[in-house]
Amino acid sequence: MKNIAVIGSGTMGNGIAHTFAQFGYQVNLIDISNDALSKALSTISKNLDRQVSKGTLSETEKSDTLSRITVYNDLKEGVSDVSLVVEAATENLELKLKIFKDIDSFAKSEAILASNTSSISITKIASVTGRGDRVIGMHFMNPVPVMKLVEVIRGYATSNETTEAVMELSRKLAKVPVEVNDYPGFVANRILMPMINEAIYTLYEGVAGVEEIDTVMKLGMAHPMGPLQLADFIGLDVCLAILHVLHDGFGNPKYAPCPLLVNMVTAGNKGVKSGEGFYNYA
Ligand code: CAA
Repeated sequence: MKNIAVIGSGTMGNGIAHTFAQFGYQVNLIDISNDALSKALSTISKNLDRQVSKGTLSETEKSDTLSRITVYNDLKEGVSDVSLVVEAATENLELKLKIFKDIDSFAKSEAILASNTSSISITKIASVTGRGDRVIGMHFMNPVPVMKLVEVIRGYATSNETTEAVMELSRKLAKVPVEVNDYPGFVANRILMPMINEAIYTLYEGVAGVEEIDTVMKLGMAHPMGPLQLADFIGLDVCLAILHVLHDGFGNPKYAPCPLLVNMVTAGNKGVKSGEGFYNYA
C-alpha cells in the first residue's frame, strides 16, 4: 500500500494525512470545501514545524511530507487509484453511509475502506458496501501525529486479511494498533466517555469546581489533561453523540448523558472549537 486517500480535512483528517505522508505514503486529501483544504494544509505545515523545531524532523523531511499530499474536491477522482481509503468526515451516520456507498462504487475492488469513526458501527457502515470483508475501523486519537494508538475495529464481516493488513500498516506509521470488536463505543470510548460523563456529574452536583476536578485527575492519576479539559478538546457535541450511541446501544441508564452536558451543547458551547466549554478559549 503506497497510495492512500483521506476523506475529510478537519482535525482528524489533517492529522491522518500528515502522519501517512510523513511515513512516505502518497496521500490524496479530499474535502468538498476548498477553504477547509487550504486550512488543513496550513495546519499540517504548522504541526510539521513543531517537529522541525524539536529536531525530530528535518526541513527536507518537512517539504517531502508536504509534497506527498495532493488535495481533491472530487470524491471519485480522489479515491479511484488508491489501495486504502480512510474516511474521517463529520461523525454523522447518514453522511458516512452515503460516503461509503459512493466510495464502494468509485474505489478499486481490492481497496480497503476504513473509517475513523469514534463510535458508529463498522458493521452498519460495511452493510451499504459490496465488500464487507474489506471494511474496517481505523480509529486514530487526537492529536494524530502524537498519539500512539490506533484502535482497529473489526466489523462482523471484516476478514483476517484486511485486519492484518491494517495492523501492519499502523505499525509502519510507528503506531501501536490494538484489535477490538465492533460493539458500541468499541473500547476507547466505552471507557473514556463514562469517565468524562461522571466528571460532568461531579461538577453538576456541586461536589467540586472545574479546575478542582481536573487537578484531581491530572495530579492524582497522572492524566495529561483533566476530563473536563479533555471533553472541551474532543468537542462537547462529539462527547454527547458518543454517549447517545452507548446509551442507545446498551440500553443501560449508566450511560445517560449528564443534563449539564446536554444543556451546554444545546446552548452552542462545544468546547475549544466554539470558544467556550468548561473553559473559555476566546
Ligand atoms: N502535531 C504534531 N505535534 C503535536 C501536535 C500536533 N497536532 N500537538 C502537540 N504536538 C506535540 C508537541 O510538539 C509536543 O512534542 P514533544 O513532546 O516532543 O515536545 C507534544 O506534542 C506535547 O505538546 P505540548 O507541549 O504543546 O502540550 P502538552 O505537553 O500539553 O501535550 C497533548 C499536548 C499531547 C495534547 C497532551 O495534553 C495529551 O496527551 N492530552 C490528552 C490527549 C488525548 O487524550 N487524546 C485522545 C482524545 S480521544 C480521541 O481522540 C478519540 C475519540 O474518539 C474521542
